[in-house]
Formats: sequence, structure tokens, C-alpha cells
Amino acid sequence: MTDIIKKRRSIRSYKNKEVAEEKIYDLLEAAMLAPSAGNEQPWHFIILDDKEIINEIPKIHPYSQMITQVNKAILVCADVNNTKYEGFWVQDCAAATENILLKAVDLGLGAVWLGIYPDEDRVAKFKSFFELPANIIPVSLIPVGYPDVNKETPDRLDENRIHRNKWEKS
Ligand SMILES: Cc1cc2nc3c(=O)[nH]c(=O)nc-3n(C[C@H](O)[C@H](O)[C@H](O)COP(=O)(O)O)c2cc1C
Repeated sequence: MTDIIKKRRSIRSYKNKEVAEEKIYDLLEAAMLAPSAGNEQPWHFIILDDKEIINEIPKIHPYSQMITQVNKAILVCADVNNTKYEGFWVQDCAAATENILLKAVDLGLGAVWLGIYPDEDRVAKFKSFFELPANIIPVSLIPVGYPDVNKETPDRLDENRIHRNKWEKS
């Protein structure tokens, strides 16, 4: 597991090789195993496998140009009518997103988290483009493909970000 966490990097360069539907289901199984507040599981997932739709994404998301290289992507959404604890759906869907990214590494795939919520402009554009009902909020979009790049593990362990018992260091 540590290995998978260390290997995960945002992948923005992909081989011209299709990801099988079965692998997308493996990713979605991992997503739905994520923790959620009170086990509310507010998530919904839209599989994007229509190249014409995928190629439209850069028009509605400013930092998504890499998506045009892939044949599959997953849009993570929250049903805000299906929650037990108000507002926690953001964290639930973030946990599901991270599970997808980690499972992708496990399957030899590469992916990147494209943030949608809480950017109002992106949320509005995704809601309109995907014809989402009012209670469905797009949270993140994850292009999935075979990596065409090797990325090193950065050293991010930072003592300055670690506190003990209270904020001030003693
Ligand atoms: C909430 C969130 C939103 C992000 N949005 C984008 C995005 O729109 N486009 C993109 O290329 N990367 C996006 N990223 C990926 C980050 O740029 C990336 O995680 C960060 O640079 C660290 O690199 P690493 O993932 O390889 O460790 C996002 C990541 C998170 C967690």
C-alpha cells in the first residue's frame, strides 16, 4: 500500500491505448469502498467513454487539456439529497476520488484529479453540459489512461507541518 501511495502522481501524458471497461469497474469498486460520513455514500459516477464528449471537456474546464489524450474518464458527483450529515459530501467524494487514483496505480494506469467543486463557474458548466439534476453536484473529473511518463516520488515530509498535542512547539 505504501508503494502505491508513493507511486501515485498526477499523470497528464498518456499512451494511445484504450482502458478496458472492466478496469473502470475496478476503479469504481474502489471508489465506493471509500469512507463516508455515517456511511452516507452520496456519490454517483458518470463513465465518459464517448470521445466526442471527452474532447468537449477543455471548453468547460480550464485545466483539463490532457483529457483529450484518453478514451475513458470518470466524473464524480454527489447527490446532496442523499446525505445524513450536512456538507460532508465534499469529503466523501474526495475520499472516493483518491481511492480511484490509488486503484489506478494498482492497475498500472495513470490518472489525474481535475477539481470542479467549489468553483462556481465549473460547477455550472458541468451541470449544464451533463444535464445533471439540481441535487447532483459535480465534484471531480478523473481522466484515466496508460501513463506515458515516469514521475519520481517527491520528498514531501515536512517537519514544519507537524505539531504535537497543541499548535505551538514546546
Ligand atoms: C482538489 C484538486 C484539484 C485539482 N485540479 C487539477 C486540475 O484542474 N488540473 C490538473 O492538471 N491537476 C489538478 N490537480 C492535481 C494537482 O495539480 C496535483 O495533485 C499536485 O500538483 C501535486 O502533484 P501530484 O498529484 O503528482 O502529487 C488537482 C488536485 C486536487 C487535489
